[in-house]
Amino acid sequence: MASAARLDLDGYAIKPMTICMIGAGGFIGSHLCEKLMAETMHKVLAVDVYSDKIKHLLEPATHPWSDRIQFHRINIKHDSRLEGLIKMADLTINLAAICTPADYNTRPLDTIYSNFIDALPVVKYCSENNKRLIHFSTCEVYGKTIGSFLPKDSPLREDPTYYVLKEDASPCIFGSIEKQRWSYACAKQLIERLIYAEGAENDLEFTIVRPFNWIGPRMDFIPGIDGPSEGVPRVLACFSNNLLRHEPLKLVDGGQSQRTFVYIKDAIEAVLLMIVSGPSFLSLSDSTFSLLGRKKKKKKRVAEYYDLFSG
Ligand SMILES: NC(=O)c1ccc[n+]([C@@H]2O[C@H](COP(=O)([O-])OP(=O)(O)OC[C@H]3O[C@@H](n4cnc5c(N)ncnc54)[C@H](O)[C@@H]3O)[C@@H](O)[C@H]2O)c1
Repeated sequence: MASAARLDLDGYAIKPMTICMIGAGGFIGSHLCEKLMAETMHKVLAVDVYSDKIKHLLEPATHPWSDRIQFHRINIKHDSRLEGLIKMADLTINLAAICTPADYNTRPLDTIYSNFIDALPVVKYCSENNKRLIHFSTCEVYGKTIGSFLPKDSPLREDPTYYVLKEDASPCIFGSIEKQRWSYACAKQLIERLIYAEGAENDLEFTIVRPFNWIGPRMDFIPGIDGPSEGVPRVLACFSNNLLRHEPLKLVDGGQSQRTFVYIKDAIEAVLLMIVSGPSFLSLSDSTFSLLGRKKKKKKRVAEYYDLFSG
């Protein structure tokens, strides 16, 4: 049920905002739109080239939130309407990206363009028009750990000094340029740096979100069932595909690889807190979200850490 009574972290009633959500038709966007429609009074200008995953929110026009969500079929690569929508909004959330691991190797140019070049106008319009930006990056910007270079039998591999990544202290290790899978991380890191620089030089108010693997309904496709038969989806959809076909699950590194998964509804709760609580950096490792970021008119970077998912 929509409610006007949602309070911010200081206990004040939250004023309804207009949010320009780019990539609203994707996995995370569709869940965020659902949450915003069901539990807040915010208005969403939903921008994407596809709307299948949010069709249930757009139709029928008798939904109680129908006057609060508008779909704009726009490719942000080349559409002059984008700046107008950002100007109309109080906040822009950019989720648009090519972000399926299989694409990093096979479509590195599209990956770099999508994650860096196509995001540039969004950052520029937000900065020029004094609008807050929440930009979705990735945990891949943390790169590899020092521990991953140690011999397999080294006892140091068990020492957290070598495998725990520290936001401000760990060295950033990416693979060489021939290893195209790093194009995604590198493009995301460069756009993060640009956003940070816009904050430092032009006072852009921003939040950067670095999700680990967020999972749940609509996250991906099963090849040949609801997506292209030759495509390779994300890992859990690969497992589902194997199960449906009664095939053995394909494990990377014989099952030694580890991943951190977060259920989408939990993650969306955190995004909603970001929307109301102001600028921050977000990264999520195991059970902890760490946030740090820049508020407008603050010349010093502010760092705050919250445990949102422990216990
Ligand atoms: N899902 C995760 O676990 C995860 C992990 C790390 C980072 N991220 C980041 O979060 C963001 C959203 O991820 P997602 O899982 O929802 O991805 P998704 O692929 O489901 O959604 C992205 C949406 O952006 C749209 N889009 C892409 N290019 C566009 C363009 N030029 N113009 C208009 N729309 C365009 C796509 O059509 C798609 O609907 C991405 O930036 C991704 O890199 C997600």
